[in-house]
Amino acid sequence: MGACKAARMDRQLISMLAHADHPIAAPLTDESVRRLLDRAIRRGDERVLDLGCGGGAWLLRALAAHPGVTAEGVDVSERALATAGEAAAARGVRDRLVLHHHDAAEFSSTRPFDVVLSVGAAHAFGGLLPTLAAAETHLAPGGHVLVGDGYWEDTPSADAIEMLGDFADLPATVDRVVADGWTPVYGHVSTREELDDYEWSWTGSLASWALDRSREPHGAEALAAASTHRSEWLRDYRKAFGFVSLVLRRTSG
Ligand SMILES: C[S@@+](CC[C@H](N)C(=O)[O-])C[C@H]1O[C@@H](n2cnc3c(N)ncnc32)[C@H](O)[C@@H]1O
Repeated sequence: MGACKAARMDRQLISMLAHADHPIAAPLTDESVRRLLDRAIRRGDERVLDLGCGGGAWLLRALAAHPGVTAEGVDVSERALATAGEAAAARGVRDRLVLHHHDAAEFSSTRPFDVVLSVGAAHAFGGLLPTLAAAETHLAPGGHVLVGDGYWEDTPSADAIEMLGDFADLPATVDRVVADGWTPVYGHVSTREELDDYEWSWTGSLASWALDRSREPHGAEALAAASTHRSEWLRDYRKAFGFVSLVLRRTSG
């Protein structure tokens, strides 16, 4: 039994399979992503940085929409970066994309960026305000930050806090950002449909992959992971979790 037992699936592989039908690894539709990017990329020749870029879905859209844009992505997942590189080549934008396999919290750049993105990666910095502080170190004067993070739509259970970390409600989240010296120049609150679609896609894509491999050890493991995730979402955090994306500029200086 031991000889033929496959190695356990790593989280990066599970995440990649779960995002197969929803490459944006956050609860936003393609149209919401487009509108947010349009508010951050104003000229069309910007240098764009994505801290925690994953499979590069935001950068690929920015590069495809703006032939004058150049982009850099930073992520700790080699698998996600490989996916980003392949997708960029397939779209013909690979020559305008640089990918860094690096901890985003320790990444340093030699030239500033006009737009700094970080969506769904605030845990890498220790929360929303530390994410903004990190983004600011890379930002050119007058530049835009596009950040996406969770907030509590309703009182969270202890399990939800343990699973997702602690957030504030939406008004307090925006107040904190403003008090930190940023002005929202646009924003998007993920709708119930976007939140549900993301979770159904995450659990459904993984489950579907697993069902096609039901006789393989990884199939059973992936099906169990999808089932656990779906149950935790529906029971522990569906009601309480919300997601907000903000396009920000420094209020002064
Ligand atoms: C929820 S995904 C979001 C990906 C992408 N921003 C998007 O919206 O499609 C979070 C990403 O952050 C990356 N990540 C986590 N910790 C990190 C760190 N310390 N440095 C860089 N990336 C990190 C993960 O590998 C993952 O790709």
